[in-house]
Amino acid sequence: MSPQETLSPVVTGAKAQATAAATPETRAATESDAPIATQVLAADDTLDDDNDSAIGGDSLSSTASIASSIYKFRVENGRTYNGYGDRRYFMPNDEVEQDRLDLQHHLFQLTFRGGMFTAPIDRKKVHRILDAGTGTGIWAIDMGDMCPEAEVFGVDVSPIQPQFVPPNVKFEIDDLEKPWTFTSGFDFVFSRMMTGSFPDWRQYINHCYEFTNPGGYCEVQDVCLPVRCDDDTLTNTNLERYGNLMLEGSLKLGVGLDVALKTKQCMEEAGFVDVNQVTYKWPLNRWPANKAMKEIGLWAHEVTMSNLSGLSIALFTHGLGWSVEELEVFLADVRKDLKNSKIHSYMPIYVVVGRKPGAKEETTVVA
Ligand SMILES: C[S@@+](CC[C@H](N)C(=O)[O-])C[C@H]1O[C@@H](n2cnc3c(N)ncnc32)[C@H](O)[C@@H]1O
Repeated sequence: MSPQETLSPVVTGAKAQATAAATPETRAATESDAPIATQVLAADDTLDDDNDSAIGGDSLSSTASIASSIYKFRVENGRTYNGYGDRRYFMPNDEVEQDRLDLQHHLFQLTFRGGMFTAPIDRKKVHRILDAGTGTGIWAIDMGDMCPEAEVFGVDVSPIQPQFVPPNVKFEIDDLEKPWTFTSGFDFVFSRMMTGSFPDWRQYINHCYEFTNPGGYCEVQDVCLPVRCDDDTLTNTNLERYGNLMLEGSLKLGVGLDVALKTKQCMEEAGFVDVNQVTYKWPLNRWPANKAMKEIGLWAHEVTMSNLSGLSIALFTHGLGWSVEELEVFLADVRKDLKNSKIHSYMPIYVVVGRKPGAKEETTVVA
């Protein structure tokens, strides 16, 4: 690994740092000791998209996948959605989406070089952990294995978690938009990819604060639309239009997919201290020259392609008034752009960590 590829943590601003294409000359000027996933990336210009078998069409990587109304899913356009709770979350909860979430879990681990969180948690001193919006529960289960002495609670409106889990992991079906009813607080409150779930993000972060024990940490990891690019290769593409339309549709439905922009401020206003934000990049295919980022790009490509319809359908039909047929024609063009390694697009991933003041020594020794 070259000195420029050092992966030491750094706090970055919310905005993309630069717009220049990364030639070898600009690379030296733009790369730093920041994590590579936060830098302006140089493109691999040896790629030939026409002769590439690594990037195919929609492909589904197969991965392993509580009474009454909870299990009554809502069905629309052949996809199932949560039936529990007042609001229908915009993503389906079917097997295709569950597989996508598990792939995405791996993508996050690649992003954090094998880690699942960035907060300075002492695994031996953390007793109660909350995974708010646990999805398939994969993070909570891995966390239960990693912290055998802690109790890990995963909460979601959809009952899509496995039944056989480590004894220290518990799942509950609940609507986190409603007042939280946990009987005690948590040493670590974690949430990942909850953008688009709550119309009142500030209230959500306030709930996180209320249920973080003094001295404990909260970490919020989220993607932020629209699709970004640090040069001009995304300009006037269907992929650029797609990212803008996804954001517009989400805003029309009152659950803007750019809410990650507000997380740091909401955490500070809630009362968290030492709030740090790091913005990582997920290239949308193998376009980066850097090997680690190319791998992240291949996984991000797979995660996006594996359920592009599911990601889009509710926002385009309910938010923007498109027909399913119109959307599918458009998505065919978007898929072409997603496969095109000449388009240097990426999704920004905002990771914000804050500490609740008080009893600092209890949980802040880095593991
Ligand atoms: C994109 S998934 C992320 C799942 C998981 N955090 C992960 O990273 O794999 C968002 C999850 O939030 C859940 N969700 C949405 N609105 C919710 C609410 N009001 N209360 C609880 N869970 C909710 C959805 O059911 C879905 O499982």
